[in-house]
Amino acid sequence: MSAATLTARPSGPLTGRVRAPGDKSISHRALILGALATGKTRIDGLLESDDVLATASAVAAFDADVQRDNDGRWTVTGKGGFDQPIEIIDCGNSGTGVRLLMGAAAGFPISVQFSGDASLQGRPMGRVLTPLGEMGARWTAEHEGRLPLTLEGGGLKGISYRLPVPSAQVKSAVLLAGVNARGTVEVIEPEATRDHTERMLSAFGAVLEITPEGPDASGRMGRRIRMAGGQRLTGTDVRVPGDPSSAAFPIVAALVTPGSQVTVEGVLLNPLRAGLFETLREMGADLTIDNAREESGEPVGDLTARYGRLRGVDVPPERAPSMIDEYPILAVAAAFAEGVTAMRGIGEMRVKESDRIALMAAGLQACGVQATEEPDALIVTGSRTVPGGGVVRTHGDHRIAMAHLVLGLGAQTPVTVDEPGMIATSFPTFQALMAGLGAEILEA
Ligand code: S3P
Repeated sequence: MSAATLTARPSGPLTGRVRAPGDKSISHRALILGALATGKTRIDGLLESDDVLATASAVAAFDADVQRDNDGRWTVTGKGGFDQPIEIIDCGNSGTGVRLLMGAAAGFPISVQFSGDASLQGRPMGRVLTPLGEMGARWTAEHEGRLPLTLEGGGLKGISYRLPVPSAQVKSAVLLAGVNARGTVEVIEPEATRDHTERMLSAFGAVLEITPEGPDASGRMGRRIRMAGGQRLTGTDVRVPGDPSSAAFPIVAALVTPGSQVTVEGVLLNPLRAGLFETLREMGADLTIDNAREESGEPVGDLTARYGRLRGVDVPPERAPSMIDEYPILAVAAAFAEGVTAMRGIGEMRVKESDRIALMAAGLQACGVQATEEPDALIVTGSRTVPGGGVVRTHGDHRIAMAHLVLGLGAQTPVTVDEPGMIATSFPTFQALMAGLGAEILEA
């Protein structure tokens, strides 16, 4: 049974070298594309977190052969399509898992019941169902646009779809459905979002045409992605790089805990995911990259963070898609930065695993930090000394929990979070990895 709470105590310097756990986005995609392809896909460095394990069970239920060979080493043998599952596809807490799987499943003449936990049942699915419906998929749901729902696929046609929200999950769902559609699928994204699906589809043999789109009236650059339906995918080897969204926690912990120096090895540095690191540098963070290299078509490097003085900044709204999951931990860095950090254009934060704008504002306030929320913004006024001392309600959101625990390491007094078991959805080794660096994060 997992602990009811976790408490982070003000720690001495954090030091050491660690390897970031596998990237969650890439892990989901490797399993799903492996199942859609024909033949063997060998995955090295798969993130074995609750979210990703739910996707592994799902693709097995669609009748792919899924084997765990060793720690992080998995083999998926696909038949070139999904079969009718017998059981409900329960994606747990994972928005990425369910939205990508709905897209992939829509390409086949099967009827699939999708569900998830209470948090996932509260999140919007209409953003994926709308384009899939335009392609010819049908669904029934008790509550409009929400899980649980039954999706019927097959006989899809092409589509030209302009994303109404910057969402890699929606883009990916349309592209994955397009693999088994008749006609061309085109997705236009006014703001570029993470492109792992496009990169991985190419690695599995699909042919995509990607052209720049924009700038629009606000100067944002986007992309147009075109793919002919009826692609043949062939299994391949995938090496999963370290997750920048997880690396962010030990990195910021080092930046805010006096005397620290921490290196996180093998971090994915895809520019569409690296907005946090750019912002931290603008705040004056001592953050360096060594050993920059390419792994499985993605840029990767070793990141070293050293404690030092941070200053508040205005984060440009157009940077949001490249760091949408990192605002909780950025807000913690902002709490330790002198002056005001304004994070604007982040309304999408409200429909993640929790309403992250509201919970970060409340959590920071509980720790003695001045934080105010606006409909699509979070404004934090920081200082080198942060009181801490809060008991933070996470609403079962892993990133809210980890962000506040990091705050507790650099603060004056301990910080406690509830529902810490949810950390395992993305970073099951968080507590052990942080302890290895010298952090005191203990069960109550
Ligand atoms: C993800 C896309 C983002 C992100 C999520 C992972 C992905 O969601 O928040 O954690 O793997 O495609 P949106 O597409 O809803 O922005």
